[in-house]
Amino acid sequence: MDTKIFTPDQIQAAAAELKKGNLVSFPTETVYGLGADATNVSAVKKVYKAKGRPSDNPLIVHVADVETVEKYAQPLDENVKKLMKTFWPGPLTIILKLKPGALAKEVTGGLDTAAFRNPNKQSTLNLIQAAGVPLVGPSANTSGKPSPTLAKHVYHDLNGKIAGILDDGATDFGVESTVIDMSTDKPAILRPGAVTVDQIERVIGPVDDAVHHVSADQVPKAPGMKYRHYAPDAQVQVVDHKDDWKRAADWIKGQDETVGVMATDDVIDSINWPQNAELYSLGKDVSTASHLLFAGLRHFDLENGVDNILTQGFPATELGEAYMNRLNKSAGQKHFE
Ligand code: TXA
Ligand code: MG
Repeated sequence: MDTKIFTPDQIQAAAAELKKGNLVSFPTETVYGLGADATNVSAVKKVYKAKGRPSDNPLIVHVADVETVEKYAQPLDENVKKLMKTFWPGPLTIILKLKPGALAKEVTGGLDTAAFRNPNKQSTLNLIQAAGVPLVGPSANTSGKPSPTLAKHVYHDLNGKIAGILDDGATDFGVESTVIDMSTDKPAILRPGAVTVDQIERVIGPVDDAVHHVSADQVPKAPGMKYRHYAPDAQVQVVDHKDDWKRAADWIKGQDETVGVMATDDVIDSINWPQNAELYSLGKDVSTASHLLFAGLRHFDLENGVDNILTQGFPATELGEAYMNRLNKSAGQKHFE
Protein backbone atom coordinates (compact mmCIF):
# COMPACT_ATOMS: atom_id res chain seq x y z
CA MET A 1 0.00 0.00 0.00
CA ASP A 2 1.36 3.37 -1.02
CA THR A 3 0.55 6.13 1.44
CA LYS A 4 -1.35 8.97 -0.29
CA ILE A 5 -0.78 12.62 0.51
CA PHE A 6 -4.04 14.58 0.80
CA THR A 7 -4.18 18.39 0.66
CA PRO A 8 -6.74 20.35 2.74
CA ASP A 9 -9.03 20.58 -0.33
CA GLN A 10 -9.17 16.76 -0.52
CA ILE A 11 -10.97 16.26 2.81
CA GLN A 12 -13.71 14.07 1.29
CA ALA A 13 -11.20 11.61 -0.16
CA ALA A 14 -9.34 11.43 3.16
CA ALA A 15 -12.63 10.96 5.06
CA ALA A 16 -13.62 8.15 2.67
CA GLU A 17 -10.51 6.19 3.74
CA LEU A 18 -11.42 6.67 7.42
CA LYS A 19 -14.98 5.51 6.78
CA LYS A 20 -13.57 2.34 5.19
CA GLY A 21 -11.69 1.64 8.44
CA ASN A 22 -8.31 2.76 7.08
CA LEU A 23 -5.75 5.01 8.78
CA VAL A 24 -5.17 8.66 7.84
CA SER A 25 -2.69 10.90 9.64
CA PHE A 26 -4.02 14.38 10.42
CA PRO A 27 -2.39 17.67 11.43
CA THR A 28 -3.17 19.42 14.71
CA GLU A 29 -1.88 22.55 16.43
CA THR A 30 0.49 20.32 18.49
CA VAL A 31 1.80 17.35 16.48
CA TYR A 32 0.49 15.11 13.68
CA GLY A 33 -1.95 12.42 14.85
CA LEU A 34 -2.63 8.94 13.48
CA GLY A 35 -6.36 8.92 12.79
CA ALA A 36 -8.84 6.05 12.79
CA ASP A 37 -12.58 5.77 13.36
CA ALA A 38 -12.89 5.55 17.17
CA THR A 39 -16.10 3.51 16.83
CA ASN A 40 -14.52 0.83 14.60
CA VAL A 41 -12.55 -1.72 16.65
CA SER A 42 -10.66 -3.22 13.71
CA ALA A 43 -9.60 0.26 12.57
CA VAL A 44 -8.39 1.11 16.08
CA LYS A 45 -6.39 -2.14 16.24
CA LYS A 46 -4.58 -1.09 13.06
CA VAL A 47 -3.33 2.04 14.89
CA TYR A 48 -1.47 -0.01 17.51
CA LYS A 49 -0.02 -2.22 14.81
CA ALA A 50 1.17 0.64 12.56
CA LYS A 51 2.83 2.46 15.47
CA GLY A 52 4.12 -0.62 17.27
CA ARG A 53 2.34 0.78 20.34
CA PRO A 54 1.78 -1.30 23.51
CA SER A 55 -1.91 -2.17 23.61
CA ASP A 56 -2.45 -1.05 27.23
CA ASN A 57 -1.71 2.57 26.29
CA PRO A 58 -5.09 4.25 25.64
CA LEU A 59 -5.79 6.69 22.82
CA ILE A 60 -7.10 10.24 22.68
CA VAL A 61 -10.54 10.64 21.08
CA HIS A 62 -10.57 13.70 18.81
CA VAL A 63 -13.91 15.44 18.41
CA ALA A 64 -15.21 18.39 16.38
CA ASP A 65 -17.69 19.52 19.07
CA VAL A 66 -18.73 19.15 22.72
CA GLU A 67 -21.97 17.33 21.80
CA THR A 68 -19.95 14.32 20.66
CA VAL A 69 -18.24 14.16 24.07
CA GLU A 70 -21.65 14.23 25.78
CA LYS A 71 -22.68 11.22 23.74
CA TYR A 72 -19.94 9.05 25.29
CA ALA A 73 -19.05 10.63 28.66
CA GLN A 74 -20.94 10.91 31.96
CA PRO A 75 -22.65 14.32 32.39
CA LEU A 76 -20.04 17.12 32.32
CA ASP A 77 -19.55 19.04 35.57
CA GLU A 78 -19.12 22.82 35.80
CA ASN A 79 -15.31 22.78 35.86
CA VAL A 80 -15.15 20.54 32.79
CA LYS A 81 -17.50 22.90 30.97
CA LYS A 82 -15.33 25.87 31.98
CA LEU A 83 -12.20 24.16 30.66
CA MET A 84 -13.88 23.36 27.36
CA LYS A 85 -15.22 26.89 27.03
CA THR A 86 -11.81 28.43 27.74
CA PHE A 87 -9.40 26.10 25.94
CA TRP A 88 -11.36 24.33 23.19
CA PRO A 89 -10.64 24.10 20.38
CA GLY A 90 -7.06 23.91 21.63
CA PRO A 91 -4.26 21.80 23.11
CA LEU A 92 -6.00 20.55 26.27
CA THR A 93 -6.98 16.86 26.50
CA ILE A 94 -9.60 16.09 29.15
CA ILE A 95 -10.03 12.65 30.76
CA LEU A 96 -13.65 11.92 31.64
CA LYS A 97 -15.68 9.04 33.06
CA LEU A 98 -17.49 7.16 30.31
CA LYS A 99 -21.01 5.88 30.12
CA PRO A 100 -20.69 2.11 30.59
CA GLY A 101 -19.48 0.44 27.38
CA ALA A 102 -19.55 3.70 25.41
CA LEU A 103 -16.17 3.10 23.76
CA ALA A 104 -14.28 -0.10 23.00
CA LYS A 105 -11.51 -1.33 25.31
CA GLU A 106 -9.12 -0.94 22.38
CA VAL A 107 -9.64 2.84 22.69
CA THR A 108 -9.60 3.12 26.49
CA GLY A 109 -7.03 0.45 27.34
CA GLY A 110 -9.79 -1.16 29.41
CA LEU A 111 -10.22 1.89 31.69
CA ASP A 112 -13.68 3.31 32.51
CA THR A 113 -12.46 6.71 31.32
CA ALA A 114 -11.41 8.20 27.99
CA ALA A 115 -9.30 11.16 26.88
CA PHE A 116 -11.12 13.75 24.73
CA ARG A 117 -9.57 16.51 22.66
CA ASN A 118 -10.93 19.18 20.30
CA PRO A 119 -7.93 20.18 18.17
CA ASN A 120 -7.52 23.72 16.91
CA LYS A 121 -6.89 22.92 13.24
CA GLN A 122 -9.63 23.69 10.75
CA SER A 123 -8.65 21.05 8.17
CA THR A 124 -8.80 18.34 10.83
CA LEU A 125 -12.09 19.58 12.28
CA ASN A 126 -13.43 19.39 8.71
CA LEU A 127 -12.03 15.86 8.40
CA ILE A 128 -13.72 14.70 11.63
CA GLN A 129 -17.01 16.21 10.45
CA ALA A 130 -16.72 14.63 7.01
CA ALA A 131 -15.93 11.23 8.54
CA GLY A 132 -18.96 11.64 10.81
CA VAL A 133 -17.24 9.88 13.72
CA PRO A 134 -14.71 10.83 16.41
CA LEU A 135 -11.13 9.89 15.54
CA VAL A 136 -8.56 8.25 17.78
CA GLY A 137 -5.24 9.97 17.30
CA PRO A 138 -1.99 9.08 18.99
CA SER A 139 1.01 10.99 17.72
CA ALA A 140 1.78 9.66 14.21
CA ASN A 141 5.29 8.40 14.93
CA THR A 142 6.70 4.93 15.39
CA SER A 143 6.32 4.22 19.12
CA GLY A 144 9.30 5.61 21.05
CA LYS A 145 10.41 8.10 18.37
CA PRO A 146 9.98 11.89 18.51
CA SER A 147 6.46 13.05 17.63
CA PRO A 148 6.00 14.35 14.05
CA THR A 149 5.65 18.09 13.50
CA LEU A 150 5.73 17.85 9.67
CA ALA A 151 3.95 15.53 7.22
CA LYS A 152 7.36 14.29 6.01
CA HIS A 153 8.12 12.95 9.52
CA VAL A 154 4.91 10.90 9.38
CA TYR A 155 5.80 9.71 5.89
CA HIS A 156 9.23 8.61 7.10
CA ASP A 157 7.85 6.52 9.96
CA LEU A 158 4.63 5.17 8.45
CA ASN A 159 4.86 5.14 4.64
CA GLY A 160 3.32 1.92 3.36
CA LYS A 161 1.63 1.23 6.70
CA ILE A 162 -1.23 3.76 6.49
CA ALA A 163 -3.66 4.85 3.76
CA GLY A 164 -2.92 8.56 3.79
CA ILE A 165 -1.60 11.75 5.35
CA LEU A 166 -3.52 15.03 5.37
CA ASP A 167 -0.69 17.52 4.86
CA ASP A 168 -1.49 20.98 6.24
CA GLY A 169 2.04 22.20 6.87
CA ALA A 170 3.97 22.51 10.11
CA THR A 171 2.19 22.22 13.45
CA ASP A 172 2.07 25.31 15.68
CA PHE A 173 3.25 24.27 19.16
CA GLY A 174 5.46 21.25 18.50
CA VAL A 175 4.79 19.58 21.87
CA GLU A 176 1.66 17.55 22.56
CA SER A 177 -1.47 18.67 24.35
CA THR A 178 -1.69 18.99 28.12
CA VAL A 179 -3.56 15.99 29.57
CA ILE A 180 -5.78 16.71 32.59
CA ASP A 181 -7.66 14.02 34.50
CA MET A 182 -11.13 15.34 35.40
CA SER A 183 -12.52 11.87 36.21
CA THR A 184 -11.67 12.00 39.94
CA ASP A 185 -12.43 14.43 42.79
CA LYS A 186 -9.15 16.30 42.43
CA PRO A 187 -8.17 17.44 38.90
CA ALA A 188 -4.68 16.19 38.05
CA ILE A 189 -2.22 17.04 35.28
CA LEU A 190 -1.03 13.76 33.75
CA ARG A 191 1.12 15.29 31.00
CA PRO A 192 2.39 18.88 30.81
CA GLY A 193 1.77 20.44 27.42
CA ALA A 194 0.99 23.51 25.41
CA VAL A 195 -1.63 24.76 27.91
CA THR A 196 0.24 25.59 31.14
CA VAL A 197 -0.75 24.63 34.69
CA ASP A 198 -1.04 28.33 35.60
CA GLN A 199 -3.49 28.92 32.76
CA ILE A 200 -5.63 25.98 33.96
CA GLU A 201 -5.54 27.04 37.63
CA ARG A 202 -6.77 30.50 36.70
CA VAL A 203 -9.94 28.83 35.36
CA ILE A 204 -10.70 26.00 37.84
CA GLY A 205 -8.46 26.65 40.85
CA PRO A 206 -5.74 24.35 42.26
CA VAL A 207 -4.89 21.16 40.38
CA ASP A 208 -2.59 18.29 41.27
CA ASP A 209 0.53 18.54 39.12
CA ALA A 210 0.91 14.74 39.31
CA VAL A 211 3.60 14.47 36.64
CA HIS A 212 6.12 15.47 39.28
CA HIS A 213 5.15 12.67 41.62
CA VAL A 214 5.43 9.65 39.34
CA SER A 215 8.60 7.62 39.82
CA ALA A 216 9.78 4.85 37.51
CA ASP A 217 8.54 1.97 39.68
CA GLN A 218 5.05 3.41 40.21
CA VAL A 219 2.08 2.58 38.05
CA PRO A 220 1.60 5.88 36.24
CA LYS A 221 -1.86 7.35 35.88
CA ALA A 222 -1.41 8.01 32.16
CA PRO A 223 -0.15 4.65 30.92
CA GLY A 224 1.87 6.40 28.22
CA MET A 225 4.16 7.96 30.80
CA LYS A 226 5.93 4.69 31.56
CA TYR A 227 7.30 4.10 28.07
CA ARG A 228 10.56 5.32 26.57
CA HIS A 229 9.63 8.23 24.41
CA TYR A 230 10.87 10.87 22.02
CA ALA A 231 14.18 9.06 21.72
CA PRO A 232 16.34 9.45 18.61
CA ASP A 233 19.03 6.86 17.92
CA ALA A 234 21.70 9.28 19.17
CA GLN A 235 22.48 9.93 22.85
CA VAL A 236 20.97 13.26 23.82
CA GLN A 237 22.43 15.36 26.65
CA VAL A 238 20.73 18.39 28.14
CA VAL A 239 22.89 21.49 28.55
CA ASP A 240 21.13 23.18 31.46
CA HIS A 241 22.84 26.56 31.72
CA LYS A 242 23.97 28.97 29.05
CA ASP A 243 27.33 29.24 30.89
CA ASP A 244 27.93 25.52 30.24
CA TRP A 245 28.11 25.88 26.45
CA LYS A 246 31.75 26.98 26.38
CA ARG A 247 32.75 23.80 28.19
CA ALA A 248 30.40 21.84 25.95
CA ALA A 249 32.17 23.23 22.88
CA ASP A 250 35.53 22.07 24.32
CA TRP A 251 34.05 18.62 24.91
CA ILE A 252 32.81 18.48 21.29
CA LYS A 253 36.32 19.38 20.09
CA GLY A 254 37.65 16.29 21.89
CA GLN A 255 35.22 13.96 20.08
CA ASP A 256 36.23 12.12 16.89
CA GLU A 257 32.80 12.33 15.31
CA THR A 258 30.36 15.08 14.41
CA VAL A 259 28.24 16.20 17.38
CA GLY A 260 24.78 17.73 16.95
CA VAL A 261 24.07 21.00 18.76
CA MET A 262 20.53 22.28 19.29
CA ALA A 263 20.53 25.76 20.82
CA THR A 264 18.97 29.21 20.52
CA ASP A 265 20.54 31.79 18.19
CA ASP A 266 22.11 33.81 21.01
CA VAL A 267 24.00 30.70 22.18
CA ILE A 268 24.97 29.73 18.65
CA ASP A 269 26.30 33.25 17.98
CA SER A 270 28.24 33.50 21.25
CA ILE A 271 30.46 30.42 20.84
CA ASN A 272 33.48 29.73 18.68
CA TRP A 273 32.36 26.25 17.52
CA PRO A 274 34.81 23.49 16.61
CA GLN A 275 34.72 22.08 13.06
CA ASN A 276 32.86 18.93 14.11
CA ALA A 277 29.90 20.75 15.69
CA GLU A 278 26.80 20.61 13.50
CA LEU A 279 24.45 23.41 14.52
CA TYR A 280 20.64 23.35 14.57
CA SER A 281 18.92 26.57 15.63
CA LEU A 282 16.09 26.41 18.18
CA GLY A 283 15.18 29.99 17.32
CA LYS A 284 14.99 32.71 19.93
CA ASP A 285 13.28 31.34 23.05
CA VAL A 286 11.47 28.45 24.74
CA SER A 287 8.46 28.90 22.49
CA THR A 288 10.39 28.51 19.22
CA ALA A 289 12.48 25.79 20.89
CA SER A 290 9.34 23.76 21.71
CA HIS A 291 8.24 24.14 18.13
CA LEU A 292 11.59 22.88 16.79
CA LEU A 293 12.63 20.27 19.40
CA PHE A 294 11.27 17.12 17.72
CA ALA A 295 12.17 18.32 14.22
CA GLY A 296 15.76 18.92 15.37
CA LEU A 297 16.09 15.47 16.95
CA ARG A 298 14.76 13.92 13.76
CA HIS A 299 17.07 16.07 11.62
CA PHE A 300 20.14 14.62 13.32
CA ASP A 301 18.82 11.06 13.18
CA LEU A 302 17.68 11.00 9.57
CA GLU A 303 20.00 13.31 7.76
CA ASN A 304 23.18 13.09 9.79
CA GLY A 305 23.23 9.93 11.88
CA VAL A 306 25.30 11.54 14.66
CA ASP A 307 25.98 9.59 17.88
CA ASN A 308 25.69 12.57 20.23
CA ILE A 309 23.37 15.56 20.41
CA LEU A 310 23.66 18.40 22.94
CA THR A 311 20.37 20.23 23.46
CA GLN A 312 19.67 23.43 25.36
CA GLY A 313 17.65 23.22 28.58
CA PHE A 314 15.23 25.88 29.87
CA PRO A 315 13.73 26.55 33.32
CA ALA A 316 10.82 24.11 33.74
CA THR A 317 8.17 26.79 34.23
CA GLU A 318 5.26 27.78 31.99
CA LEU A 319 5.83 26.32 28.49
CA GLY A 320 9.30 25.25 29.72
CA GLU A 321 7.62 22.52 31.78
CA ALA A 322 6.34 20.72 28.68
CA TYR A 323 9.60 21.34 26.80
CA MET A 324 11.76 19.94 29.62
CA ASN A 325 9.40 16.98 30.13
CA ARG A 326 9.91 15.94 26.48
CA LEU A 327 13.64 16.77 26.38
CA ASN A 328 14.39 14.87 29.60
CA LYS A 329 12.64 11.81 28.20
CA SER A 330 14.50 11.95 24.91
CA ALA A 331 17.77 12.36 26.83
CA GLY A 332 16.94 9.59 29.30
CA GLN A 333 17.61 12.27 31.98
CA LYS A 334 21.26 12.65 30.88
CA HIS A 335 22.63 16.13 31.56
CA PHE A 336 25.96 17.54 30.35
CA GLU A 337 28.29 17.95 33.33
O1 TXA B 1 -1.30 16.72 21.16
C1 TXA B 1 -1.71 15.56 21.31
O2 TXA B 1 -2.31 15.19 22.34
C2 TXA B 1 -1.46 14.55 20.19
C3 TXA B 1 -2.27 15.03 18.98
C4 TXA B 1 -2.13 14.10 17.80
O3 TXA B 1 -3.61 15.21 19.32
N1 TXA B 1 -1.82 13.22 20.56
C5 TXA B 1 -1.09 12.49 21.46
O4 TXA B 1 -1.57 11.21 21.70
O5 TXA B 1 -0.10 12.92 22.01
P1 TXA B 1 -0.72 10.07 22.42
O6 TXA B 1 -1.51 8.83 22.25
O7 TXA B 1 0.67 10.07 21.90
O8 TXA B 1 -0.75 10.46 23.95
C6 TXA B 1 -1.92 10.25 24.73
C7 TXA B 1 -1.58 10.23 26.22
C8 TXA B 1 -0.84 8.96 26.58
O9 TXA B 1 0.18 9.27 27.54
C9 TXA B 1 -1.95 8.10 27.21
O10 TXA B 1 -1.44 7.15 28.14
C10 TXA B 1 -2.82 9.16 27.88
O11 TXA B 1 -2.80 10.25 26.98
N2 TXA B 1 -4.22 8.70 28.03
C11 TXA B 1 -5.12 8.45 27.06
N3 TXA B 1 -6.30 8.02 27.58
C12 TXA B 1 -6.14 8.03 28.92
C13 TXA B 1 -6.98 7.70 30.02
N4 TXA B 1 -8.25 7.27 29.86
N5 TXA B 1 -6.47 7.81 31.27
C14 TXA B 1 -5.20 8.25 31.46
N6 TXA B 1 -4.36 8.58 30.45
C15 TXA B 1 -4.81 8.46 29.21
MG1 MG C 1 2.86 10.02 21.50
